Amino acid sequence: MPTIAISNQKGGVGKTTLTVHLAAWLATQGLRVLVADADPQANATAWLCGGERHQSAFWRLLIAREKVENVLITGRWGVGLLPGSDETGDAFITLAALHRPFDAIAQMLRQANQVLQPNVLLLDMPPSKAAGFRELLFAADYLLVPTQVERLSLHGVQYMADTVAELQREQGHAPRLLGVVPNFVRARTIDHGDHLVDLVGSFGPLVWPAIPLSIRLSEAATYGTHVWARDPGCEAAKAMEQVCRRFIENMASSQRPSAFSRQEATGSEQATNSQ
Ligand SMILES: Nc1ncnc2c1ncn2[C@@H]1O[C@H](COP(=O)(O)OP(=O)(O)O)[C@@H](O)[C@H]1O
Ligand SMILES: [Mg+2]
Repeated sequence: MPTIAISNQKGGVGKTTLTVHLAAWLATQGLRVLVADADPQANATAWLCGGERHQSAFWRLLIAREKVENVLITGRWGVGLLPGSDETGDAFITLAALHRPFDAIAQMLRQANQVLQPNVLLLDMPPSKAAGFRELLFAADYLLVPTQVERLSLHGVQYMADTVAELQREQGHAPRLLGVVPNFVRARTIDHGDHLVDLVGSFGPLVWPAIPLSIRLSEAATYGTHVWARDPGCEAAKAMEQVCRRFIENMASSQRPSAFSRQEATGSEQATNSQ
């Protein structure tokens, strides 16, 4: 099933926020969701596990060679999780010194997909300078890029597009850019409006609905829940739902085989594979 990397060269742009909200929303639609926390900061793990700490799944799978079913844990909303910790970075560094990291990481994720059979695998990515970044990206089918809408942030999106092109050239495979998700948007400010126009100018229909700057989203992270639980009627809740619906639509219309269908996207009463 498709592996989607949620990534941006920059930190603090909302990668983990988007990963956790997509995971929560898809899981409550009845889909089997697997999150692989590939960031050594392990924020997705803390969020999905109420602050509990876990050993790094990447270390246990790539270096200690454990079985994926022993490493899997179940997080909030029934989301399957391959947890992260600071050992995740050590795993990627060790791997790079040992042998071919591109093959090893791709094989690890393929195996997780085969054994655990999720409908979707979301990869919460580390920063671009971190070990394992290019290898993880190589292993993904699709790429989602959350971004702020400052001028320099737009360079970060271009950097991701360039990295994808480079991977394609050098390794013969790269994820397809699924969408760019503007985040922290202040709709009524002129500069954000201008930068959004620039973003659409560069990436056209790949620009997804914008998520507003909202205290409700930072509260969701603080309290280990999602924005719909904090305030279902707020703008950020509505925007995040639009983003999730867009995700389902794109997956359903993608050419790769996947378990997504429009039927599954219409509501939990029709959902299959409930956890
Ligand atoms: N739209 C938003 N409005 C307000 N705060 C947000 C928004 N998106 C994310 N945040 C907060 O910004 C911080 C960074 O977000 P995070 O998802 O951890 O970024 P990344 O994973 O890219 O480093 C977190 O404290 C998160 O709660
Ligand atoms: Mg993060």
